[in-house]
Amino acid sequence: MRSARLNILEPEFSSDRLSSRIPRAYSFVSAIYSRLRFRIIPRQMLESIEQHLPETGTVVDVGCGFGLFTLYLAMRRPQCHFVGVELSEKRVTQARMAAAKLQVRNASFICAESSSGNFPDRFHAAYCIDLLHHMPPQAADQLLERLYQGLEPGGTIVIKDINTHPRLMLWFTFLLDWLVNPKDSFYYRHASTWQERLTEAGFASLYVYPLRNLLPYPHFLLTGRKPAPPAQQ
Ligand SMILES: C[S@@+](CC[C@H](N)C(=O)[O-])C[C@H]1O[C@@H](n2cnc3c(N)ncnc32)[C@H](O)[C@@H]1O
Repeated sequence: MRSARLNILEPEFSSDRLSSRIPRAYSFVSAIYSRLRFRIIPRQMLESIEQHLPETGTVVDVGCGFGLFTLYLAMRRPQCHFVGVELSEKRVTQARMAAAKLQVRNASFICAESSSGNFPDRFHAAYCIDLLHHMPPQAADQLLERLYQGLEPGGTIVIKDINTHPRLMLWFTFLLDWLVNPKDSFYYRHASTWQERLTEAGFASLYVYPLRNLLPYPHFLLTGRKPAPPAQQ
């Protein structure tokens, strides 16, 4: 007699499969951290970033850490080339090793201070996930200007960061940030301040919305576009 079997058929690059496959490309501690990060980060965030990426072209991930989301998005968008920019040499090495293990060929990593602007001259989209509150305001503003200059007209920017309200949620986030990086300083700014900075840098079509998940983080996502020049008659 034949017994019934459960067959779950998921595409190889579905978000569920990637979020369990990618952490396995890292060493023990980073693998645990990566699993947690995939759980903590609202799925809505990755879906929204993905929606703002082009089908082809160059995408810059500024402050990419050890490349977790660079690799995720590179696997979701195989026709794009992703460039991860990261201050820590150790994290860049981890990102390169994980890319090699996962056989991801459309992602490369640069070790650089992001406000130095030492990354591709031209690109089609850029995003920063939890980077900006690690940067002093002047350096963060310089980075936004550099991103505006480098983006092709019509290109998009996506920022995921931490809002300053509600205050209790901000304190919760600060506590976790401080536990992970006890020697760092943090510069949280209200989402509307980031919106103003993007406007000053030249970005248009700005849209900001809160991200919700189980933990009480005051996350927000802010998206913008570099206006395309008017079409010639
Ligand atoms: C909270 S982690 C986020 C990493 C990654 N985006 C993620 O979501 O997994 C912030 C990262 O930004 C990097 N970073 C901080 N300041 C930077 C700067 N000025 N230039 C480049 N990277 C920076 C840190 O080394 C760290 O890896």
